[in-house]
Amino acid sequence: MATIRRLQDVDAPAVAGIIERCLREVNSRDYPIEIIERMCGHFTEHRVRELATQREMYVAEADGIVGTVSRDGNKVYTMFVHPSVAGRGIGRQLMRHIEALAAADGHDHMETGASISAHDFYRRLGYVDVRSTDTDFGLNFILRRSLP
Ligand SMILES: CC(C)(COP(=O)(O)OP(=O)(O)OC[C@H]1O[C@@H](n2cnc3c(N)ncnc32)[C@H](O)[C@@H]1OP(=O)(O)O)[C@@H](O)C(=O)NCCC(=O)NCCS
Repeated sequence: MATIRRLQDVDAPAVAGIIERCLREVNSRDYPIEIIERMCGHFTEHRVRELATQREMYVAEADGIVGTVSRDGNKVYTMFVHPSVAGRGIGRQLMRHIEALAAADGHDHMETGASISAHDFYRRLGYVDVRSTDTDFGLNFILRRSLP
């Protein structure tokens, strides 16, 4: 089990590093190199710090930072788990953490925009497709899950 906590300013380089590793090693299987490069250019340390002022950003820690997720109310953003620890339940733990916070705020559902690479991960967690959308970062799926 990882520990989930709010992102601090000093975490920005580690989080930007995880995002880049995911993009280059995982998402690159599903998206063309131009889109991967655009996304890597977008998610810099500076951008991570900026996003942290606009959303609640969380990190998963287990011998260092191994994953991140953020939320704005019931909307999910920037869900990334370091490829070296993928498949160990860290993504699920991060999602359940922010879902509990959204439910406590009174939201009745959670909504996420999923990459092709993460589509089946969200479905495994109980999310259902609402629609697909073409963005500057390629094809994305909008999914929702009811909150208790
Ligand atoms: C998608 C991602 C966040 C999943 O994180 P993770 O820690 O590996 O996921 P978990 O181990 O918590 O997996 C939870 C369940 O989903 C399944 N799962 C995880 N990734 C999956 C995938 N890509 N396809 C199908 N199932 C997947 C797991 O097998 C597990 O199923 P179980 O209920 O049978 O145990 C991670 O692989 C990642 O960062 N990918 C690249 C970046 C990305 O695309 N992020 C999302 C941007 S929208």
